[in-house]
Amino acid sequence: MTERFYITTPIYYVNDVPHIGHAYTTIAADVSARYHRLKGEEVYFLTGTDEHGQKVQEAAVKRGVTPQQHVDELHVRFKELWQRFDISNSDFIRTTEDHHKKVVRTILQDLYDRGEIYQDTYEGWYCTPCERFFTEKDLKEGNCPDCGRKVEQIKETNYFFKMSQHQDWLIDHINTNPTFVRPESRKNEILGFLKKPLNDLCISRPKARLSWGIPLPFDDQYVTYVWFDALINYISIHGQVPQIKSSGYWPASHHLIGKDILTTHSVYWSTMLKAIGLELPKNIFAHGWWTVNGQKMSKSLFNVVEPNKLIDQFGVDVIRYFLLREVPFGLDGDFSHKALIGRINSDLANNLGNLLNRTLNMIKKYYDGVIPEPGENGPEDEPLKAKIKTVTSEVDRLFDELAFNKILMQIWGFLDSANTYINDTAPWNLAKSDEGKKRLSTVLYNAAEAIRIASVLLQPFMPSSCDKMRGQLGISTSVEQDGLASIQNWGALKAGTQTETGDQLFPRIEEKEAKKIMEEAEKDAIGEDTAVNVDPIAEQVTIEDFMKLDFRTGVILEAEKIKKSKKLIKLKVDIGIEQRQVVAGIAEAYEAEQLIGRTIVLVANLKPAKLMGIESQGMVLAGSDPDKIVLAGFDQELPKGSRVK
Ligand code: MSP
Repeated sequence: MTERFYITTPIYYVNDVPHIGHAYTTIAADVSARYHRLKGEEVYFLTGTDEHGQKVQEAAVKRGVTPQQHVDELHVRFKELWQRFDISNSDFIRTTEDHHKKVVRTILQDLYDRGEIYQDTYEGWYCTPCERFFTEKDLKEGNCPDCGRKVEQIKETNYFFKMSQHQDWLIDHINTNPTFVRPESRKNEILGFLKKPLNDLCISRPKARLSWGIPLPFDDQYVTYVWFDALINYISIHGQVPQIKSSGYWPASHHLIGKDILTTHSVYWSTMLKAIGLELPKNIFAHGWWTVNGQKMSKSLFNVVEPNKLIDQFGVDVIRYFLLREVPFGLDGDFSHKALIGRINSDLANNLGNLLNRTLNMIKKYYDGVIPEPGENGPEDEPLKAKIKTVTSEVDRLFDELAFNKILMQIWGFLDSANTYINDTAPWNLAKSDEGKKRLSTVLYNAAEAIRIASVLLQPFMPSSCDKMRGQLGISTSVEQDGLASIQNWGALKAGTQTETGDQLFPRIEEKEAKKIMEEAEKDAIGEDTAVNVDPIAEQVTIEDFMKLDFRTGVILEAEKIKKSKKLIKLKVDIGIEQRQVVAGIAEAYEAEQLIGRTIVLVANLKPAKLMGIESQGMVLAGSDPDKIVLAGFDQELPKGSRVK
């Protein structure tokens, strides 16, 4: 039977704006999936979005839409980004899909029926942003051990999964399967975690507190804890348990995850699978985190690297290459435009690009662009041919280890050899004599053949560039059609093929341009672009002057665009004590429907004024720059009519 390969990414929180951290895992999974397809294996590659839980519910309420509408709109950002990145996923799972919900409920019912889930009253600490319970000793300086934020003490009746009973065999499994959790450092981290007694896992949330989740099949007053729901995505895509078992895609070959979600995967998921009666995945690989210019990515620091912008600026394949080449998979890495430009110039332009351009140019110059029939052999040929044999076997081994940067180093070792081969044989000299020409055809044939072979090995990393490289060499078949088998023997490139010297695939970024890119990136990073247009600070006022203004929180009840105006929207705002009609100049920034339910700040004692003949009884606070208007708001709920000072 054909070998099956199943690889997954985490399912991303649908609320998040996709950034390079998310792109990193997805590209890594894609590269592996593509390589295994080239080997002729049947590959299933799954990614998707995690769509339940408190944060989604809260965000939807803030936007005045239902959680379902909210996730229907937002998940698309991930789908679209993956399309742009040439991600070849077999499916995209959303945890709000019916088939997934059904599998989760069947599993819950089965575990409940078999006594693996029980009800109990829990007293302890809860971190709302992380949606996790903690015991006193889990806390770090009294705060959430994961995010460092404040925790609340709660007492609540809930359902628990008997996770604690799985501790001993799990430790044993990790020890006897050295590749189960990788890299080694993460394996040790999880073994360290398992030295403390394992608690049972609270797998429910009362509906009174959170309704946006999968209802428990045995108690409709509760929904399923978001992680218990989310982890099941890895199997629910294949159906119910019997189908999963016969799908041929379980156990998964690799779950790729970030280091922050190692416990949920290696402990929660493993114990859940054991209780369900399914095998454990063959490997859980936790990669490191990306920082930006040495800082943690954070929306408030304006330094979240926006993948779409990078693609526009540098192209898809360059980013795919950079992310996997720059940092060993498993370690933390730092993103900077400087490092990116460095890689583009040295690895892509000077090495790969140069090999391609000079080979094609010489074939054009000496053979009218037609790949020549090899002539005389020479002493430089064999080492190049031997090199690729060791490189291909190393690459194969390194793919098992997911050592992407080492794989690329191997391939670049081969490209170096091909460039050295050209330098050593000096075709420009061979072209000068009839005797030399007998050898010239061999040298240029071999250089072109080296590029063909590189196009196969590199295709998982840079699919569209490899297609273009092959197009320039006049190869009509795709790498997918030819497969990895096509590089087993030297000499598959057909002599007589017409080549094309098209666009330069990897142009150098010259110093002046590089400087400009880096300056712009720096401005983005410090948020300067949002600060340059700030007006000078107005004249000072006393606190008494300030207190004359009465700012209140209000909730928008109705919103309607004023027909003849481009900018104005008429609002009905509830400020607790009364309702106000307010005309706000925000129509270019917000759709009327999107405003309903939002909490805003109203200047409540401003003299009423008429705008386009409509009375406005107050003013809504918003910040603006020439490009956008943003309503002022709060990071937590406040009662309507609260005074804002
Ligand atoms: N929804 C959960 C996963 C459930 S899987 C059954 C989740 N989602 S997430 O969107 O917050 O994170 C998804 C992945 O992105 C995690 O693996 C996380 O490590 C990764 N990253 C988030 N920020 C990152 C960086 N700055 N760098 C690298 N990866 C990072 O957790």
